[in-house]
Amino acid sequence: MSSRDATVDAYETDAAAYAVNGAFMPDSVRRDIEDLVARLGRGARVLEVGSGGGRDARLMEHLGLRVRRTDITPAFVTLLREQGHDADVIDPLRDDLGSPDGAYDAVWANASLLHVARTDLPTVMARLAEVTRSGGFLRMSVKEGDGEGWSTHGSISNPRHFTYWRADPLREVVAGAGWNDVEITSQVDSRAGQPWLEVLAVRA
Ligand SMILES: C[S@@+](CC[C@H](N)C(=O)[O-])C[C@H]1O[C@@H](n2cnc3c(N)ncnc32)[C@H](O)[C@@H]1O
Repeated sequence: MSSRDATVDAYETDAAAYAVNGAFMPDSVRRDIEDLVARLGRGARVLEVGSGGGRDARLMEHLGLRVRRTDITPAFVTLLREQGHDADVIDPLRDDLGSPDGAYDAVWANASLLHVARTDLPTVMARLAEVTRSGGFLRMSVKEGDGEGWSTHGSISNPRHFTYWRADPLREVVAGAGWNDVEITSQVDSRAGQPWLEVLAVRA
């Protein structure tokens, strides 16, 4: 089985537990959402990649954005639909990301593209740029570090595959895929001590 499929299977098995435990909103994520709302204004349309249990979409909608919820893991999409939301099973590497309503104003991908293989991230970044309007925003976060590896932690009992990134090569990938003004900041998750890279970029 590929690392992509094994990771999706791991989430599929424990999606409900992840949704419960992942409901805690870190301050850094809240700040990034508030910043996005301030940049976009109410009513803007956001494509969310990896909605998981739906925590971030709930706050974005509460603050006036319109969110298209998507996830590669079918069990998360089932949970989101049970909460009464539209949601789609989408692999950002392979599936159509477009919308009949036109280009999105922003893409939000919190802690999801860290599961994309390093060699596939340029393609995913370019595909996300294609469906975002000029001047629209990208907000994403990945784990900071070297190499890649399998990890079993938190509410997901089977191993998941992670690709770790350093700021310079990540900036090169994002900037090479149709995004300008790439800003990358490093944040340490105060609960787990995990360093994260948070990316903000503007569609060229
Ligand atoms: C750590 S969870 C984060 C969920 C949510 N964004 C949050 O912050 O709580 C990782 C998410 O990435 C999704 N995912 C797994 N493999 C992926 C891949 N290859 N491409 C995109 N998303 C993936 C999972 O289904 C899951 O929703």
